[in-house]
Amino acid sequence: MEIKFNDISKQWDVIKEDVTPKLNLLFQNSDFIGGKAIAEFEKNFADYIGTKYAIGVSNGTDALKICLASFNLESPCGVIIPANTYIATALAITYLSNLNSELKLIDCDIYYQMDVDLLEKCLKENRKKWKSCVIIPVHLFGHPSNIEPIMELANKFDCIVLEDSSQAHGAMVSNKKVGVFGEMSAFSLYPGKNLGACGDAGIITTNDEVLYDKAQSLKNFGSREKYYYDYRGWNNRLDTIQAIILNEKLKYLDEWNEKRIEIAKIYNDLLDNLNTIITPKTASYVNKNVCHIYAIRVKKRDELQKFLRKNQIPTIIHYPIAIQKTTPFQYLDVNDNKNTLQYADELLSLPIYSFQKEEEIKYITDIIKKFYL
Ligand SMILES: Cc1ncc(COP(=O)(O)O)c(C=O)c1O
Repeated sequence: MEIKFNDISKQWDVIKEDVTPKLNLLFQNSDFIGGKAIAEFEKNFADYIGTKYAIGVSNGTDALKICLASFNLESPCGVIIPANTYIATALAITYLSNLNSELKLIDCDIYYQMDVDLLEKCLKENRKKWKSCVIIPVHLFGHPSNIEPIMELANKFDCIVLEDSSQAHGAMVSNKKVGVFGEMSAFSLYPGKNLGACGDAGIITTNDEVLYDKAQSLKNFGSREKYYYDYRGWNNRLDTIQAIILNEKLKYLDEWNEKRIEIAKIYNDLLDNLNTIITPKTASYVNKNVCHIYAIRVKKRDELQKFLRKNQIPTIIHYPIAIQKTTPFQYLDVNDNKNTLQYADELLSLPIYSFQKEEEIKYITDIIKKFYL
């Protein structure tokens, strides 16, 4: 059986009848930049997440960068992120060339989220030396970070919180969706995400009108009115074609998330009794883990990955090289973050997407069992 890691074409099968006439109309009107589909998607996404505003942008990395640039951060500025995340979370601050920033990496807990005790320790040790401070929790793998205690610490230590919700569209804590907790939240809409465009795209959410206005301006050269500029901004607009597609896909996001949750449960049921495998767990503070990635932890990970590949089962490692070991961030000279380093050697993400069939999951888990026999 040939298995796909993700099959996004299945989403296209669902939306194409509704999307095609809209795309035809767009081509007829040639309303390609800043068309009305963008404002529509921004409104629909803000309503879905539960914020007052949303700002469509070019991708998730630019979303993070624009949020950081909206905050009026003062140098020296501390930027605290989880050690185990996609590199974009760390790169975002490096694009603000006028800011003197110090990046701090916090190790992850058993749910692969920023460890709150270590965050508190970092703030106690460092907050006083910084004029401003941003904490960027990442809701990794579809599982929310422990965001409420993080918000309390942010309050206590006078920090801004920027959620990186790129992997957790629709995930919930205390009956609220991630993306409503921090001052701003950045979402990637990369094709493979739970809500994914047909190319690069991203979106920002916020309840703050001033931040909303600034982010709308920054993503459009620093301008809210054509040829009048308030900031040195970027060309980081959301593409109108993507907005049309995303508007359609958003209608199915909850349904598709529920399917992922079902699939993760089937995986757990089939793998939980194997003592060689640590399956993903959901913390008790979580209302909804949207299972963006299904990552197991195993010994002999690389051998297992090869064995699966030989059996036509693709897998991915999120992430094989911890940020502190990547070339751009080696200068940090960080050697701790024990969990992150260990998990980089043990994590293996199995195929998961909303249209996966139960027999495929059974096949994958049978091959895994065969490897460990
Ligand atoms: C946690 C996280 N942050 C940021 C990004 C960057 O998003 P993009 O690829 O849309 O720039 C991604 C995804 O790629 C991500 O997974």
